[in-house]
Amino acid sequence: MHSRVPIGILGATGMVGQRFIQLLEHHPWFEVAWLAASDRSSGKPYGEAAKWRLDTPLPARIERMMVSPAEPEGAPNVIFAALDAAIARDMEPRFAAAGCAVISNSSAFRMAPDVPLVIPEVNADHLPLIETQSWRRESGGYMVTNPNCSAIGLVLALKPIQDRFGIEQIFVTTMQAVSGAGYPGVPSMDILGNVVPYIGSEEEKMEAETLKLLGHIDTRSAGRTITPLAARISASCNRVQVEDGHTESVSIKLATPATREEILAAWNEFRPLAGLHLPSAPAQPIEFAPQNDRPQPRLDRNRGRGMAVTVGRLRPCNLLDWKFTLLSHNTIRGAAGAAILNAEILHSSGDLVPRGPVSHREQPEPVAATPSHA
Ligand SMILES: NC(=O)c1ccc[n+]([C@@H]2O[C@H](COP(=O)([O-])OP(=O)(O)OC[C@H]3O[C@@H](n4cnc5c(N)ncnc54)[C@H](OP(=O)(O)O)[C@@H]3O)[C@@H](O)[C@H]2O)c1
Repeated sequence: MHSRVPIGILGATGMVGQRFIQLLEHHPWFEVAWLAASDRSSGKPYGEAAKWRLDTPLPARIERMMVSPAEPEGAPNVIFAALDAAIARDMEPRFAAAGCAVISNSSAFRMAPDVPLVIPEVNADHLPLIETQSWRRESGGYMVTNPNCSAIGLVLALKPIQDRFGIEQIFVTTMQAVSGAGYPGVPSMDILGNVVPYIGSEEEKMEAETLKLLGHIDTRSAGRTITPLAARISASCNRVQVEDGHTESVSIKLATPATREEILAAWNEFRPLAGLHLPSAPAQPIEFAPQNDRPQPRLDRNRGRGMAVTVGRLRPCNLLDWKFTLLSHNTIRGAAGAAILNAEILHSSGDLVPRGPVSHREQPEPVAATPSHA
């Protein structure tokens, strides 16, 4: 029997940190071995430091585990990071420089040219960017990021359409859950009975990340670079009084015409990870809900164990070509589950655990551009 890879969680006490703990309990490949958070929490047992917010019990082993200071010394060399961007900007590079694989949730380095921003079903071929990182050469450490919690659902729904018909314009309006703001997040006096039509930097993140994710890797230049998708995109982001699950209304203009049946077939047949047996990958990444009043956060956010995006209400758009509604779970597919799936695809090709400075070993084979047995 193979032993599981010990992993650490940075920001373990927060909303996303808690999801990591929940999703990694009984994970067949990874085992939580180290938890870290701020000075407020370090030195305390996790059960005392964290206010557990999830609807499954806090595992007893984790409850007793001591929270460590957020320093690389003593940490395992695979780290799931769930830190605020302002803190991640300084802290994540220190872990990568110390030789850790940093599988990050924060926005701090998502748009850095040498950092892959990855959804395994969409752009696993961007992962070889890690070989261009200075940390990789010097310590073997590296960084991989997953997208903003609204961008991820949007891009999953757009990818099969882009592949078959091309997309020229994207117009998206979000209705985002309060858990997206972390804990305690949005004050109840601001959100109860209300909609807040502003989420700081969210629209800019959605627009930029969507085009990077749907872009292509250019290996002709000396280093590898990402050329973003040449489409126009406009996002409007709103906070609504939903606990979990981001809903989005999307309109798109296509490069070549498509019928409703062709778009439904593109979604239905989209299974790029089939055959890889990644534990967190949903069998059907995009599920279509045919009912007029779906998807809804309460009814559809847990499809595919929170890892599937639900699409519905596909209909012609009077301004662009087609419009539809989508829903994805923001702290599972939009955060912890996304990072775990990134780690799984790296692990499946033997590239997750850093193997020391690249200069001290043979140049590694790049991660397979697309899963070879998919
Ligand atoms: N919530 C979502 O739906 C979502 C989705 C996608 C991405 N993200 C991103 O994921 C990250 C975490 O989000 P969250 O919602 O989990 O936030 P959160 O609930 O506010 O949790 C923040 C975590 O960071 C820790 N922390 C704060 N200051 C620290 C420091 N100086 N050193 C070490 N740890 C420190 C906190 O520890 P203490 O408890 O000790 O303060 C806590 O564990 C953010 O970058 C966010 O944008 C969130």
